[in-house]
Amino acid sequence: MLRVELLYACAWAGVATVLCFSDTLEDASLDVPHLVRKYGYPLEVHTVWTNDFYYLTMHRIRCGRDRNSNPNVNRPVVFLMHGLQSSSADWVVMGPGKGLAYILAEEGFDVWLGNSRGNVYSRRHLWLDPDSDVDFWKFTWDEIGRLDVPAMIDYALEKTGKKQLHYIGFSQGTTVFFVMCSMLPKYNEKIISMNALAPVTYLTNTGNPVDKALTYFSNEITKTAEFFGVGELPPFPRWFKKAGEMTCRDDAIVVKEVCYNIVFLFGGWNPDQSNKTMIPVQLGHVPAGASFRQFTHFAQNMRSKKFRRYDHGHVGNIKTYGTWSPPQYDLQEVRAPIHLYYSLSDIRATVNDIRRLRYELPNVKEVIQIPLYSFNHLDFMWAIDAKTLVYDHVIKTMNSYHI
Ligand SMILES: *[C@@H]1O[C@H](CO)[C@@H](O)[C@H](O)[C@H]1NC(C)=O
Repeated sequence: MLRVELLYACAWAGVATVLCFSDTLEDASLDVPHLVRKYGYPLEVHTVWTNDFYYLTMHRIRCGRDRNSNPNVNRPVVFLMHGLQSSSADWVVMGPGKGLAYILAEEGFDVWLGNSRGNVYSRRHLWLDPDSDVDFWKFTWDEIGRLDVPAMIDYALEKTGKKQLHYIGFSQGTTVFFVMCSMLPKYNEKIISMNALAPVTYLTNTGNPVDKALTYFSNEITKTAEFFGVGELPPFPRWFKKAGEMTCRDDAIVVKEVCYNIVFLFGGWNPDQSNKTMIPVQLGHVPAGASFRQFTHFAQNMRSKKFRRYDHGHVGNIKTYGTWSPPQYDLQEVRAPIHLYYSLSDIRATVNDIRRLRYELPNVKEVIQIPLYSFNHLDFMWAIDAKTLVYDHVIKTMNSYHI
């Protein structure tokens, strides 16, 4: 009996392997430059150094394919920053007409996509080896906000000869913006507008039981992992990703519930707004790599109900900050014009936390509630109707600054 089942499993694995290499899944295995060029858009790859010697990769789509396709026109610059465990792929996986990067290029923007240290496109340092030096991974989104984002913004401004740009961030991509502008206030002046999609600073209202458990253990988990020389969150093994891609296919024999649950692990997500055909492609690009400390830092803030710097423990804090507890980020310093986008069902950027953020920021121009109750966290990138529900408003907002 067991042997029959084994045979069956092997046959299934065989079919799965064949399907894996079929053309429909090509987008899952292409990197951002190949993916974007495949659809006929120009793509430039830029390498940016940070002050602490990480090499970051930026991707740039400088013009559209169907409209605004002359590369030599002077265009407003927009910088896009992805979320936790993600990369510049977030803005293009959904394809032309759907992914925000393509839409912005067609609308006449010069589009720059950031990649934070530690993800697949920015896994390099002048002397630290991400595969063997745990020190490579001793960073959180504090460093991404203080070092990576300013370096990428300065680079984009220098290359384009501009003084200012628009910023669009999703989730952790907004956290790092608030870190940057509070710690380095002169960067406020480089921002024409900040469009914060599902902004994350305070995390007091996360009711998810997994999150709650993690907040209690994450400091110890991180310390233990680093003690054993592991600073990178273990990426999904390849077989696991492949299995995910297979079970999520339209024609998959296996029940799709399995697949939904895999995707749900990444954060809130709404089945009605999900294009099932695209799940394998999304899984091909996410998770894209992060440090243990990034998660732990969020967990610390959940527990303290504050938006503050990384907690190294009392001794470490005295050494690093000169105080027993980590200092808070001063949101009063964030003076750039801010547009906040949130939704009622978002399990990460919850309504109460958005309300608190709104009142602590001194220059909120607009708070936009997504007009669909079930809209959830990952829907800001992946929803079928993201363009009409979110992106059109973002474009209108940015264009209003150029009149
Ligand atoms: C889902 O994605 C496929 C492949 O990109 C596309 O052909 C289809 O139109 C999409 N469906 C919806 C409802 O957007």
